[in-house]
Amino acid sequence: MSIITNIEDLRRLAKKRVPRMFYDYADAGSWTESTYRANHADFAGIKFRQRVAVNLENRCVASTMIGQDVAMPVALAPTGLTGMQHADGEILAAKAAEKFGVPFTLSTMSICSIEDIAANTSKPFWFQLYVMKDRDFINRLIDRAKAARCSALVLTLDLQVLGQRHKDLRNGLSAPPKLTIANLINLATKPRWCLGMLGTKRRTFGNIVGHATSVSDMSSLSSWTSQQFDLGLSWKDVEWIKQRWGGKLIIKGIMDAEDARLCVESGADALIVSNHGGRQLDGAESSIRALPGIVDAVGKQIEVHMDGGIRSGQDVIKALALGAQGVYIGRPFLYGLGAMGEEGVSKCLQIIRNELDLTMAFCGLRDVRQVDKNILLPGTF
Ligand code: FNR
Repeated sequence: MSIITNIEDLRRLAKKRVPRMFYDYADAGSWTESTYRANHADFAGIKFRQRVAVNLENRCVASTMIGQDVAMPVALAPTGLTGMQHADGEILAAKAAEKFGVPFTLSTMSICSIEDIAANTSKPFWFQLYVMKDRDFINRLIDRAKAARCSALVLTLDLQVLGQRHKDLRNGLSAPPKLTIANLINLATKPRWCLGMLGTKRRTFGNIVGHATSVSDMSSLSSWTSQQFDLGLSWKDVEWIKQRWGGKLIIKGIMDAEDARLCVESGADALIVSNHGGRQLDGAESSIRALPGIVDAVGKQIEVHMDGGIRSGQDVIKALALGAQGVYIGRPFLYGLGAMGEEGVSKCLQIIRNELDLTMAFCGLRDVRQVDKNILLPGTF
């Protein structure tokens, strides 16, 4: 592939370069994948108002998320096993985000650890937390994130049980991959990936080794999830986590107006309208459709962010127009990473920024902070 012009180009290249089980892990949704498809498809129905002959000089896409300056209001979403898309993937993605000036969010289920990211970056990153029964372990994770100077905790509430992803089960997903004949045949077609993995020691879950040494494949991961994740999780737990953390708190996985109001009561600084990229409750509404109701429910009390299905800067600006202060991208940066490592993540961010900037200009605006519903065609959202 010679020229990369959009996120789809990165996806195609990643599919060629990343072993099938990890490409499928990133790309797939749960069960019938209807929510996964709707997340992206529902953006297409929202139309812009094209404006002409307005001053388009000195345009600016910089903004803030939870009071922090961002080069554009697009953060990298927390994604598990990112270090399996490319060797040292979380480090490379964090470096690309830092250079670009957008937040990087490290998943609890990452390959590179909190300390690995801290040692390889100079600006604060964000840490995503899953709530497990073992409170000592949660406390230790929170303390490690504090020691690493993370500037926000992203608390994910929509994965106390794991949505079944058929492809992961069929592929026998594990990290590192088991050396079965089928895997060896597939790995033989991915020499770059294999060389990268031979050159790193980071091949399993960096934040939880030592705590859960038995995590070796997806079937044990799902049983590990049901053993470890706290099914009794309640809003009281959000309170103690907030207290222990003491910094900016973002609650992720909100799809309901009532839950959004509870986020406000919990004292969170922001919430993320998210259905986990269509990987959890298949049949849930798309995030972009859920967004306006949640914005109405919380007003200006806390920031509303969103993710799910964003594949271009045009999707970003639609989400901003419907009231999001910022958005997150998951798969788009994973495709970039799998395709071309750090350079691919940078490319993904450049593509999105360029599309965002040009679309803003076509809509007759010069500053992304002025984007609101007025740029959308009534009756299409
Ligand atoms: C995720 N997501 C996720 N979320 C989270 O809070 N913790 C995690 O560990 C993960 N892991 C994860 C792995 C992979 C491969 C994907 C694709 C997603 C969900 C993620 O943060 C985000 O909500 C979605 O990715 C957003 O949808 P798009 O941008 O991928 O369409």
